[in-house]
This record gives sequence, structure tokens and C-alpha cells, in this order.
Amino acid sequence: MVKICCIGAGYVGGPTMAVIALNCPSIEVVVVDISVTRISAWNSDQLPIYEPGLNEVVKQCKGRNLFFSTDIEKHVSEADIIFVSVNTPTKTRGLGAGKAADLTYWESAARMIADVSKSNKIVVEKSTVPVKTAEAIERILTHNSKGIKYQILSNPEFLAEGTAIQDLFKPDRVLIGGRETPDGLKAIQALKDVYAHWVPEDRIITTNLWSAELSKLAANAFLAQRISSVNAMSALCEATGADVSQVSHAVGKDSRIGPKFLNASVGFGGSCFQKDILNLVYICECNGLAEVANYWKQVIKVNDYQKNRFVNRVVSSMFNTVSGKKIGIMGFAFKKDTGDTRETPAMDVCKGLLGDKARLSIYDPQVTADQIQRDLTMNKFDWDHPIHLQPMSPTGVKQVSIAWDAYEASKDAHALCILTEWDEFKTLDYRRIFDNMQKPAFVFDGRNVVNVEMLRDIGFIVYSIGKPLDPWLKNMPAVA
Ligand code: NAI
Repeated sequence: MVKICCIGAGYVGGPTMAVIALNCPSIEVVVVDISVTRISAWNSDQLPIYEPGLNEVVKQCKGRNLFFSTDIEKHVSEADIIFVSVNTPTKTRGLGAGKAADLTYWESAARMIADVSKSNKIVVEKSTVPVKTAEAIERILTHNSKGIKYQILSNPEFLAEGTAIQDLFKPDRVLIGGRETPDGLKAIQALKDVYAHWVPEDRIITTNLWSAELSKLAANAFLAQRISSVNAMSALCEATGADVSQVSHAVGKDSRIGPKFLNASVGFGGSCFQKDILNLVYICECNGLAEVANYWKQVIKVNDYQKNRFVNRVVSSMFNTVSGKKIGIMGFAFKKDTGDTRETPAMDVCKGLLGDKARLSIYDPQVTADQIQRDLTMNKFDWDHPIHLQPMSPTGVKQVSIAWDAYEASKDAHALCILTEWDEFKTLDYRRIFDNMQKPAFVFDGRNVVNVEMLRDIGFIVYSIGKPLDPWLKNMPAVA
């Protein structure tokens, strides 16, 4: 029986291995992690991450051929194929701080593999890593090899949180990069055989190692660039009276462009986009490609601009101050159908409003109060380390309370800010909300989920990103 061990039981390791285990009953899959609480949660009925469909998949194979364990060394030493899916945060100090990937967790995983292995292994990069990481890993492994042969493969993960299970069952493509040597090709084939249990052959692409590593960074950069492009247009729409939804619809009808990923919003978030672009920028700079680096940097700058612009809209519309005013925050996760808050735009918007002394009542159907308080007190980039290594804040933020539902968050509020596109925000009883708010009552829709006309009829002053401005807002400057 082929044995797979995955190091890192996070948003990637957990779901990917569960889907492999479900589709490959003849393979034993063990997911290991240094975080005891994470592994206990995977072994309980309350999984550590929220992802539609995940529970059902895990239930079917946990205890059959899918296991979660903290006994890392045992399972690594027994495995034929080892996936490494650990954190690769942005460095916060030293060379490349603020841009380069911090490969501490990767390196310690590689050294541990070298220490405990007694048989040949295929080591698969699942984490997103800088180009040429495989080479570094290969050096660590072979310098400590005791005669054991290692083949390194790059198999970046393209799942999107919120639709991870669907993406894993029907991936647009699976990418496998490896050495173009006879042993390298054999390793590629072994991993191909795993995916071939459920992925059609023509969707499995094989490349050299460096192309696979770079393709992941490139794909995320392209996706983020699309969002920054439509967000840049949204600012121009507001200035000219065009409607960004109409513009994206018309643009997306061009089959060369396509309709997906063209929704204007308060900005992109998530653990990957910003981190991967910063990483790309750093690699460009290291290779003397300053113009290319600056081009990609701009994608992040527009994203920051969009978040600032939103905060400025809120403050300037409300008589240029939100000091002491209650603002209901609807949604904190970086997008709907996930409880993940890493790099969520809500964090920056909330910090911006708190900077102007607002009082916030935050509601999100999937994010815990503890997580929100943690996020609002944590330093940039600290969120991307294993949870037990993140600095704990001694106290939460005083001006922030956490609400059980949207109605509680909006009671007596001067304004609502919709920051995550949860479906339930489309169908709230906005009449009831309006009646319980201070007047004038504002709605700032950072995700274009509400029916603007209906809300204006109720009496709200509505700002919706990239849509023709409410007469109230027309003369209020909101440039960042
Ligand atoms: P995560 O933070 O949810 O999970 C990483 C896990 O690795 C943590 O549970 C941590 O405790 C564990 N870990 C760290 N060092 C370890 C070690 N030496 N031994 C054992 N366990 C260790 O992170 P996530 O989101 O799963 O991301 C993992 C990688 O996949 C990152 O490189 C990320 O950029 C990449 N990625 C993430 C995607 C996403 O949507 N979250 C999508 C595609 C790639």
C-alpha cells in the first residue's frame, strides 16, 4: 500500500489530503502537524477550518485511510510520498523583510525529513514557495542523506478557499514539476498516478521544477491583478457616473477576457495574494528586474488604495468624523464561505475606522470573537505563523464588540459597512435595521451585495463601490 504523509494540517493540507484519501482508498494518508490543538480538532467533530463540503468528505474516510496525528517523525519515516504544506509567511526582519518568503518552517520540515528517513522518498512542495526552493530543499536533503534517494516535486495548490472541495474534486489543472532525469520522471509519474484516480489525464500538466514553482506565483499575481484592475475602474466609475457592474459585464463578454473575477470590492484579501506578489516582487528585484517588480507592486498599491478610499468615504460622508459613533461591521472573513481572516480587507477598514475613534460592532457568521480581537491587535504578517507561535494580545480592543447577528450589530448604529459578501446580507430585513439605527442611516457596501434602490427607498444613504453616487456623497472628497 502506498503511504502518503502530509506535513501541515491547515487550509491546504487538510482538504487536499481528505480528497486524496476519499478518491484513493488503496492509499493510506496521514496528515501531521506541530500544532496539537489543530490535530485534536481534525480528530473531533468540530474541524479546525470551515469549508463547505469538507465535513462530509472527512467523515467518509477518517479512520479508514485518512488519519491526523502529531507523531510527525513516525509517519514521515514510513511514508513513500511526503507532501509539505506548511506556512510560508512573509519575512518580517532581516534580508528581504516585508517581501521575501520566510522559509523557516519549510527548512525545519526538510531537516526533519532528512533526520528520520530510512527509505527513499518523494518530497512534494505543496506550500507556495519562491522559485528555486526545490533546489535548496534538495541540497538540505542530499547533504544529510545517509544514502537515501530523494526526488523533489513541485505540486502547487490552486484551490480557492470557500470552494476548496469543489476545486479539488474538479481541478482546472493539476501541475506537477520535477527533474527531467529518469528518477525525476519516475517520481512525476508516481504522483500523476495518485491524481489519476479522479483527475482526467489531460488536466494533469507536467513541467520542470522552476516552471511549476513560478506558475503558482504567476497565477496568483494574475488573479490579484484582475481585482485591482476592476477596483481601479470602480474609482473612475464613481468619478464619472458609470456603473462598475455594467462595465465589468460588458468587458467580461469579450471571450478573451471572460466574466470571472471581475467584481469590484473593498479589496482582495486572503493568505496568498499579497504574500505571493511580494514574493514575486522580491524575486524580480533579486534578478535585477526593477521594472517588472514595480509593475507587480502596483497591484498591491491599488488594493491598499481601495481600502483607504473606502474608509475615507465612510468618514467623509458622516460629517468628516466617526468619533464615538457606532458602526456595524457586516462580515470579517476575507470572503464568503470561509472563516479565514488572513489579510482580510476588513482588518484594515476596521483599523482605519478605529483610528478615527469609531466604536465597532462586528458580526461574521463564521469568525470567532477571539479571532477578530486577535486580528485587530496583531502586527502585519504575524497572522501567517502556526497559531501557537502567534503573539497573544493581552487585551482586546476596547472600542470593539462582537455581535451575534446583523440586527444586534446594527442596533443604534450610525452606519453599516458590508465587508464580506455573505449571502445572508442580501436578504436581511433592512426596514427593521433602518428603524433601529440612528439617522441619517448610512450603508457602505464594500461588496456590492445590497439592492441600492430598495435601500434608498427605505431611507438609507447608500454607498456601493463603483456605482453612481448617492447625491449625499457627491461633493464629499474620498481620495486616499
Ligand atoms: P495554514 O497556516 O492553515 O497551515 C499550515 C500548517 O503547517 C499549520 O497548521 C502549522 O502548524 C503547520 N506547520 C508549520 N510548520 C510545521 C512543521 N515544521 N511541522 C509540522 N507542521 C508544521 O496554512 P495554509 O493556508 O494551509 O497554507 C500552507 C501553504 O499553502 C502556504 O505556503 C500557502 O501559501 C499555500 N497555499 C495556501 C492556499 C490557501 O488558500 N490557504 C492555497 C494555495 C496554496
